[in-house]
Amino acid sequence: MNKTTTIPDPRLIAATSTLAAGLFVLDLWLPLGVAVGVLYWGVVLIALASPQRWFPLTVTGACSILIIVGALLGPIHSGVPLWMAVTNRLLSLLVIWVPVVVFLERRRGVEALRRAYDELERRVEERTAELVKANQALEAEIAERKRAEASLWETQHALEQNRWQLRALAAQLLTAQDDERRRISRELHDDLNQRLAMLAVEIETFQQRLPSSKLIAEKLRSLHEQVVELSDDVRHLAYQFHPSILDDLGLPIALQRYIEDFSTRTGINVTLVHKDLPDPLPQDIASCLYRVAQESLGNVAKHAHASHAAVELLGSETGVRLSVRDSGVGFDPTKVKQPLICLGFTSMKERVRLVNGRLEVKSSPGQGTEVRIWIPLAGSSP
Ligand SMILES: Nc1ncnc2c1ncn2[C@@H]1O[C@H](COP(=O)(O)OP(=O)(O)O)[C@@H](O)[C@H]1O
Ligand SMILES: [Mg+2]
Repeated sequence: MNKTTTIPDPRLIAATSTLAAGLFVLDLWLPLGVAVGVLYWGVVLIALASPQRWFPLTVTGACSILIIVGALLGPIHSGVPLWMAVTNRLLSLLVIWVPVVVFLERRRGVEALRRAYDELERRVEERTAELVKANQALEAEIAERKRAEASLWETQHALEQNRWQLRALAAQLLTAQDDERRRISRELHDDLNQRLAMLAVEIETFQQRLPSSKLIAEKLRSLHEQVVELSDDVRHLAYQFHPSILDDLGLPIALQRYIEDFSTRTGINVTLVHKDLPDPLPQDIASCLYRVAQESLGNVAKHAHASHAAVELLGSETGVRLSVRDSGVGFDPTKVKQPLICLGFTSMKERVRLVNGRLEVKSSPGQGTEVRIWIPLAGSSP
């Protein structure tokens, strides 16, 4: 159907006009009666084949004129009443107009429907194209995100690896430091201290053998005192580097000795309670507990401004718990998290981690501080 053409098919024009003219002539000469309407209806039917709306309307109008003119000019049949002839013509007009109007209205409806359908189809196509575009954009975005996620994962992985390497390094450093302390302590105690002791003995012997001169005797006595003092200092230094009694006599005694020494030096009163400690305590765990207690008490002396502190060591079948508590000024643990600034806490945590334990710091300004650690014994979970 070509909607742009306004001229109907010439064959249709020719057929309808010839037929209408023929019928008109027939109507003038022959008494067609009721057949007039039916015959003209045939002409109208042919005109309806034209897609142009105006053409069947024009043909129907022309046929109506011909029907009326035919009635006026045609032969008057005797015996046929006028009303019947008029009714016949009116019926003929009805017969050609009703189908035309109905048909054209119906066709208008169908065309409107088709237009609506075409419009709908166009919109669906447009929408589909938009959706395809949106889908492609979405797919591109998903691919981009996946790439970003993958690179993020790689970075995280690398960071995690670096962290593990750093931790391993810290662990090695701590172990190396402990070994080195042990070695220096042994050197100081077994070698240097012994030699100083020998020197003191020699001075003493020399003092006894020399002819009595007050000045020399006085000098030698002072020398002897200095050497003995030096020897004490070296022993103390050796003890600080690594208390051999930790290995020889165990953690409670070593801690007790450290606490006594600490109290004498700082004037802080420290109580030690220990209960149910496994015997023997593995050396690495004992060493860790000792160092953590040492660092925590060091912090009490340095930062807490407390007059009293308490150390508690509790053992069980599954592990050992240590608590170092003071009633000093306290601090906000969330504000001292930088590992480079809080070297004490960082090394405590690393030590505890090395023996699969965990460390907790409970403190707040004005409320004192408690450092707690829990170390599981081999064969039990942390
Ligand atoms: N017992 C305590 N009382 C008050 N403040 C403390 C105590 N222990 C630690 N702190 C605070 O935590 C910080 C970190 O301690 P630490 O890691 O041992 O580093 P450092 O002792 O070298 O300053 C300290 O500088 C101090 O402010
Ligand atoms: Mg410290």
